[in-house]
Amino acid sequence: MMFERACLLLPALALAACHPAPTAQPLTQAQAAARHPADVGLATLYDGSCRACHTNRDSGAPLSGDHAQWDVRWAKGPDVLLQHAVAGYNGMPAGGQCTTCTPAEYAALIRFMADQGG
Ligand code: HEC
Repeated sequence: MMFERACLLLPALALAACHPAPTAQPLTQAQAAARHPADVGLATLYDGSCRACHTNRDSGAPLSGDHAQWDVRWAKGPDVLLQHAVAGYNGMPAGGQCTTCTPAEYAALIRFMADQGG
């Protein structure tokens, strides 16, 4: 399932890599803080975990919705980002302080924060 999705995504990623968007303007913290996932369940998970760091530049976390910070990370591929969210990555704590998130929910939260159609 996961791998099928990755294959479907690959052409889009390759295209994006071949035609990079003009350098994105960084978001302000206020702009990042104003964003919420449309799905209510996902928004609740987000508010209880990711949001605390990912709307606070001082935390070192890429700001939610900030293409200037997320595009280079998204280029690693959603599967790598999912793995880093679950296992931890430098200052990113394993699980991102979400005790109930499923892999699918992590993937959706990452898509939302990277502003990749989530
Ligand atoms: C305690 C603060 C904190 C919380 C809570 C947190 N993060 Fe992070 N996150 C970070 C920091 C700091 C980084 C940057 C790590 C680095 O690149 O050195 C990061 C980076 C990431 C990355 C990018 C990893 C990469 O490979 O570039 C993903 C994906 C991510 N976080 C997902 C999440 C998700 C999903 C949640 C909520 C379930 C979450 N984070 C909650 C601090 C946090």
